[in-house]
Amino acid sequence: MTLRHPSAPSAAKPELSVDPLYTLESGGIPRHRLPAREMPPDVAYQVIHDELMLDGNARLNVATFVSTWMEPQAEKLIAECLDKNMIDKDEYPQTAEIESRCVAILSNLWHAPDPGRATGCSTTGSSEAAMLGGLALKRRWQKRRGADGKPADRPNLVMGINVQVCWEKFANYWDVEMRLVPMEGDRFHLPADEAVKLCDENTIGVVAILGSTFDGSYEPVKEICDALDLLEQETGLDVPVHVDGASGAFVAPFVDPELEWDFRLPRVASVNASGHKYGLVYPGVGWVVWRDADALPDDLIFWVNYLGDNMPTFALNFSRPGAQVVAQYYNFLRLGFEGYGRVQAYAREVATRLSGSIAELGLFELLTRGDELPVFAFTLRSDVDNYTVFDVSNALRERGWQVPAYTFPENRTDLAALRVVVRRGFTHDLADLLVADLRRQLPRLERQPEPVHDGATATAFAH
Ligand SMILES: Cc1ncc(COP(=O)(O)O)c(C=O)c1O
Repeated sequence: MTLRHPSAPSAAKPELSVDPLYTLESGGIPRHRLPAREMPPDVAYQVIHDELMLDGNARLNVATFVSTWMEPQAEKLIAECLDKNMIDKDEYPQTAEIESRCVAILSNLWHAPDPGRATGCSTTGSSEAAMLGGLALKRRWQKRRGADGKPADRPNLVMGINVQVCWEKFANYWDVEMRLVPMEGDRFHLPADEAVKLCDENTIGVVAILGSTFDGSYEPVKEICDALDLLEQETGLDVPVHVDGASGAFVAPFVDPELEWDFRLPRVASVNASGHKYGLVYPGVGWVVWRDADALPDDLIFWVNYLGDNMPTFALNFSRPGAQVVAQYYNFLRLGFEGYGRVQAYAREVATRLSGSIAELGLFELLTRGDELPVFAFTLRSDVDNYTVFDVSNALRERGWQVPAYTFPENRTDLAALRVVVRRGFTHDLADLLVADLRRQLPRLERQPEPVHDGATATAFAH
């Protein structure tokens, strides 16, 4: 195969035809059915490698919360553990031991009353962890109702409309009514008083998010718990709280240690977090931890006799990669409390400085500043009517930046915003380059006679 730089002088015309990249006997590569015969591994690699070049650059993807950078030593461990199945606890006892150490570390970090008896497990991400947390709430409520001789057929779960789609899935898959508090005015997440208003005897719990996917803000977990305490005093209803700490459970302990959002609040029954977000691991690991063994009903635990051992499992999947759990432990060991603090504080410093620079451009209004999660949302000034946030998002795509634009839910469907997620590996340098590109694109957008992209024509963005 001859590679030629496009500007290199080309000789006679026949040489202009492209050299065959792939030395295949048969002409084509079927896309939607199995090829009839084998092909050399190098060819299969090259074909797939080339196609993947069209994917975006993960480091320029400020849409995702998920880690796009890990240290080479972590990558080495991941490569060494790629063949380990997390469920084979008997065959890979040290990987199993590392998983339970991680649960103990998180239980301790989130102030569980007895981290020595930590109850929790790894999952594929926060979605699975949220399902498990929700299932435990539902089962506990069903038992309470059963014990009181009351019907348990109409469970509901109270949350803000800003919840991530995993909670819609939970409600749908497990037949739980979602009771959603809408956004109102400048309030983009769940307020304590509105949450309490929706609770009744069929409420299995309240979900509080640390922090919201829409704008990076922390929901007031303590206020929500206090309001539920009051509800219990007044009505006897005892409604537990699950904290969806997908991102924040790996941020707040390090940079907002005084914020009470975790098991310090007796009403918090369980917490989920994504190891692959601010836990700083590549995609494929989440965590769910209960405040104690009582918060996880025994009958949800399966005792699996596997490879000669009897082990407890609580998970939706059976087989799952062990490598990501090992990578999580690598980060815990390598960074420690101080290191996580340094990483998250830097991300927040970059986020707040970047949001400040964007505000200084004069055309945008910040909805959040990136001073809770290192994540902020911003919208266009209300008098800008010849281009939209969707146009801005598209203009930034020309330079490879993936900055999502999206419309807010009820009652703020009038509001469309852009969001930037600052993660490990996103430096002040990169932030300045993003602002420079925005500055370069704005004069063109300002000259545009009317909007080109709206929510319907913009690149799809799903939370
Ligand atoms: C608040 C919140 N909960 C849950 C999830 C789902 O997490 P995962 O992608 O780890 O399944 C997300 C993802 O962005 C999130 O932001």
